[in-house]
Amino acid sequence: MAREVDTQLASSHIYPIDVSYTIAVKSVGGVSDDYKNQSFKLIEWNPENSVFPTEINSSNFILLKDSNDLWDIDLDTQLQDMFDVISDKGFLLSVFRYQLTEPELALNQMNGKKALKNADLEKRIVDFVKAAQSVGFNLIARKLDSIGSVAILFRKLFSEPKLPKKENIIQISSNPEKWFETLKEKIVEQKENESTDESLWLIANDSSKNGIIGLINCLRLEPGGECLRCVFDYDNLIKGSVKFTEKPYSDILSNDLPINVLKNGKVGTYRHFTLNKDYDKKESNDYFLNVGHNRDLASLQWYDSKNLVTSKDDYDLINNKTNKIPCNIYSAGMNFRDVMFATGRIASGPQMLFTDCLIGFEFAGRRADTGERVCGFDMSRCYATSIDANDELISRIPDNWSMDDAVSVLSTYSTVWYGLIERAHMQKGESILIHSGAGGVGQAAISICQFYECDIYVTIGTEDKKKFLMNTYNIPENRIFSSRNTQFKYKIKEITKGKGVDMVLNSLTGDKLDASYECIADCGRFVEIGKFDLQMNKQLGMFSFLRDISFIGVSVDQKLYMKRGFVIRFFEWMHKNCDNGMIKPINQNVFKAEEAEKAFRFMTTGKHIGKIVIRTREEESNKNAKSGFTPTKKLVVTRKTYFNPNKTYIITGGLGGFGLEFIHWMMFLGARKFVLTSRHGVKTDYQKFILRRLASLGGNLKQFATKVVVSTHDCNTSDGTKKLLADAQNLAPIGGVFHLALVLNDCLLENQTYDKFQETIDSKTKAFENLDKISRELSIDLDYFVVFSSVACGKGNAGQSNYGFANSVCERICESRRRDGLHGLAIQWGPIGDVGVLADSEINTSLAAVVKQRINSCLE
Ligand SMILES: NC(=O)c1ccc[n+]([C@@H]2O[C@H](COP(=O)([O-])OP(=O)(O)OC[C@H]3O[C@@H](n4cnc5c(N)ncnc54)[C@H](OP(=O)(O)O)[C@@H]3O)[C@@H](O)[C@H]2O)c1
Repeated sequence: MAREVDTQLASSHIYPIDVSYTIAVKSVGGVSDDYKNQSFKLIEWNPENSVFPTEINSSNFILLKDSNDLWDIDLDTQLQDMFDVISDKGFLLSVFRYQLTEPELALNQMNGKKALKNADLEKRIVDFVKAAQSVGFNLIARKLDSIGSVAILFRKLFSEPKLPKKENIIQISSNPEKWFETLKEKIVEQKENESTDESLWLIANDSSKNGIIGLINCLRLEPGGECLRCVFDYDNLIKGSVKFTEKPYSDILSNDLPINVLKNGKVGTYRHFTLNKDYDKKESNDYFLNVGHNRDLASLQWYDSKNLVTSKDDYDLINNKTNKIPCNIYSAGMNFRDVMFATGRIASGPQMLFTDCLIGFEFAGRRADTGERVCGFDMSRCYATSIDANDELISRIPDNWSMDDAVSVLSTYSTVWYGLIERAHMQKGESILIHSGAGGVGQAAISICQFYECDIYVTIGTEDKKKFLMNTYNIPENRIFSSRNTQFKYKIKEITKGKGVDMVLNSLTGDKLDASYECIADCGRFVEIGKFDLQMNKQLGMFSFLRDISFIGVSVDQKLYMKRGFVIRFFEWMHKNCDNGMIKPINQNVFKAEEAEKAFRFMTTGKHIGKIVIRTREEESNKNAKSGFTPTKKLVVTRKTYFNPNKTYIITGGLGGFGLEFIHWMMFLGARKFVLTSRHGVKTDYQKFILRRLASLGGNLKQFATKVVVSTHDCNTSDGTKKLLADAQNLAPIGGVFHLALVLNDCLLENQTYDKFQETIDSKTKAFENLDKISRELSIDLDYFVVFSSVACGKGNAGQSNYGFANSVCERICESRRRDGLHGLAIQWGPIGDVGVLADSEINTSLAAVVKQRINSCLE
């Protein structure tokens, strides 16, 4: 555990501390070289036959991992030994198993160890605690994990605690004017009088929104600050002065811990805990599929759709206002493009600007209003249970098709229709080479080309696929070649007597693309539907164009969103040909929602024949319009933050370094209306540049049209706050408040002036208090109420006691809101390197041990 302790200490202290470690083991021989070469001192101690090692004398901290070997040793002697080697006020942290897992029980049995029951483990812990207390240890805290370990912290308090003198107890009220000078004087006194062991007790009992925690965290890192202790009476139960002779204050005094919070009748403290692994998970019936941060197939997960809201003024990519039709999705079709995006193999292109989801662009389902069966396209997010579909991109599903049939036709037939009929002007009886003939597009091409009585050549990857094409489409065996090498080129040349084919529908890459290019007859057409070589800007020789060859690059996705009427024409063609044998739904490989990753992986193997479909609802046997919908399966999904484009978001201090980046992130996740507060309005060229750029984005793409209002109303006053809220509400209902306003006045308390101290506090607390109070009074229902706090508050930072106090007040306000069922969130950011108040600055305070984080790590 030595390494874990070292890592914990390094990460929980924000200034470097020099620790000398000693590891006691039964035999040094068994210790890995890693530890021998470290700064850890290794000693041998066999508890069965030697006394507790005296080398550990005067330790500040002993970590003891209990094991069966220690059970036979007399507990009192063992604890007395440890008590003797720990220095006064030092700690003993003992770690026990309180519950054994099945594998542990089995292993114990295999190793011939005593068969232990959980009751034995419990007894061991009780006996240990009793013995520890009897030799003089104070029990401080106990922490359980969920896999059967408990850590118990004891402290050695040798000397009888001295009752604090009256002048060493300072009341920290919410108004710093009442205590600032006294506290400053006392700290200076303490610094100058190093020999004193008197503690200075700070007591806060006037309000649960007191900032004492951030204050003491910072002050304890300043010269003279080690003597500080605090009692934060969260419930404001202490009336008058604290009676250190009575419980729980007598215990607080003797435990001598710096921070003591009295809440709900218990004494505790504030701690950072690692978030639970599934902190962002919930059960939901409404979800969509997306890749996570890693952008690989293992990160594919279903996300909660609850907060996804469509703008009332939604525009498509060519600035036409869209009419949105809410639809319930039953099936979505998979395309190779999805796999390429999900694995990061192709770059995302401009879509990345306006959406965090790039996968899923065809679906079948029912209109939520009429129940009519519809199928259609969208830019992304179609692997989902519901969608607000653009009415120009959907159409009725022919009665004889199932939902899965419908999605098997959309991108496949639209690609072939557009590539071969619309662009290559395919004529009856022409010859064609179709690559990957057993895939979705390949089969659609075969079907259409057979209808056009073409002379068809195909390539495939496996024998199964060959058999499938021979059986399903009656393609003769000698017209089917392998797509895994370039032999098809020679065979086609041979069969066509050197002439080649009139058309190639190509999806192969590299040398196979070159070979395909060579297969085209004079005046032929090369129809490229693959994306990879296009993205890679592969070069093709110009010489062949002398033979009047046409190269046709097909990007149906571009056409779908950039040419109005394209989809309508495709649907007209689809309805005209859905019964005459030209369009036949393609066979499907159907996966359930919970098998989504498997479906993606299946496509990467290249073994599938036909269309891969992800089904989120089972289709009803009744194909008519209906009002009830089959429910979706409840899944455990990931929650993600999204903003409502129809609401206004207030960002106080929004023209600051963090604020200007933050707006972009909020926009990316949906927000379109902002009110930014500032004392002086737009001043710098950079602020002007960003605001101009936001405006011009909306000019080019109405989807991005963003309203940004800069307000100079003074939120530190109620009047100013009321005006700000009214202005924001004039834009649209207020969706949230993000409090970023800040004025820093860093200085050790001994050199600080009251005015500067108070200015920093006011810059954070007053506006936040006003916004909380007045939004409650006006019954404004806020989805977000967030303050940007700092690690300087949570861990402390010398020179920032005012900032620590202020952030702490804001954090307590968030707690009070959450108690009342309202939103409230404080984020303790680390120092940010590239923008904001610390950008380009050398931090010369104790925060120097914290690596500056980059702004993009804050806005993932
Ligand atoms: N940057 C970091 O490393 C970091 C780390 C942890 C936490 N944070 C937190 O993140 C937030 C933003 O930090 P930042 O780096 O963007 O700071 P910043 O660049 O200094 O921006 C803060 C802005 O607040 C504005 N402001 C001050 N008093 C105001 C008032 N009364 N009303 C309206 N606006 C006021 C200032 O603009 P005007 O002069 O125009 O009024 C200033 O531009 C702060 O709350 C900070 O505590 C930042």
